[in-house]
Amino acid sequence: MKKLFIVANWKANKTSHEAVQWLQKFQISNVQYQISNKEVIVCPPFTLLPFLKSYLLNHKSGLKLGAQDVSPFPKGAYTGAVAAEHLTEFVSYAIVGHSERRKYFHETDDDVIAKTERLLESNITPILCVSDMKQMEYFLLKGEVIVKHASDVIFVYEPPSAISGGGVYRPEDPLTVDKNAAEISQKIGKRVSILYGGSINPQNYASFFRLENIDGGLVGQASLDPVAFSRIITNT
Ligand code: PGA
Repeated sequence: MKKLFIVANWKANKTSHEAVQWLQKFQISNVQYQISNKEVIVCPPFTLLPFLKSYLLNHKSGLKLGAQDVSPFPKGAYTGAVAAEHLTEFVSYAIVGHSERRKYFHETDDDVIAKTERLLESNITPILCVSDMKQMEYFLLKGEVIVKHASDVIFVYEPPSAISGGGVYRPEDPLTVDKNAAEISQKIGKRVSILYGGSINPQNYASFFRLENIDGGLVGQASLDPVAFSRIITNT
């Protein structure tokens, strides 16, 4: 049985109070998920990381923590930045290259490569979002580290058009997802871990998770609801 990575991307949502409510409901509705073949990773805003780290330890939860971004620079005189060295205190994973970072914060492919490098140097697993094959080709061309450490990276095939918006789910067709995921592995030259992201919900997750070339999902909107997110985890 393949190992599934199910990642909750909370984006810029939830205060500490709301996070506690989520966790309480999640624990209640989360009837025993098989931790052995699933890694469930919650990526909250930076501000919640210290609090959630102790909460999860105190409540003996199997949930793992991830960040939603990292600075492309090491620690130092970079006002407002959160460096990979800071994140090592709290997380073992971090999302990089999300298309919303590109769209709203004008991040470039080179920024994403630098961020991935900083994470790898700090032994944090990058959850690297890839919008399309053109971007993947750029990473292969310029991101030597990504290619060299491809087995330490979790790739996410996430076409921006599939990301839910305004409460509407608009997932990519599973056959296209499988084909593009296979192409990512093929371009790298070996089978790597690849998730699908974009409008995953309790109704459609199975059609993605069972694909040969997919190892789980990056879940945005549906992860904000603890009951919906539990369903995605428990039924897989
Ligand atoms: P969505 O978001 O599940 O709401 O489409 C996924 C993401 O943006 O990572």
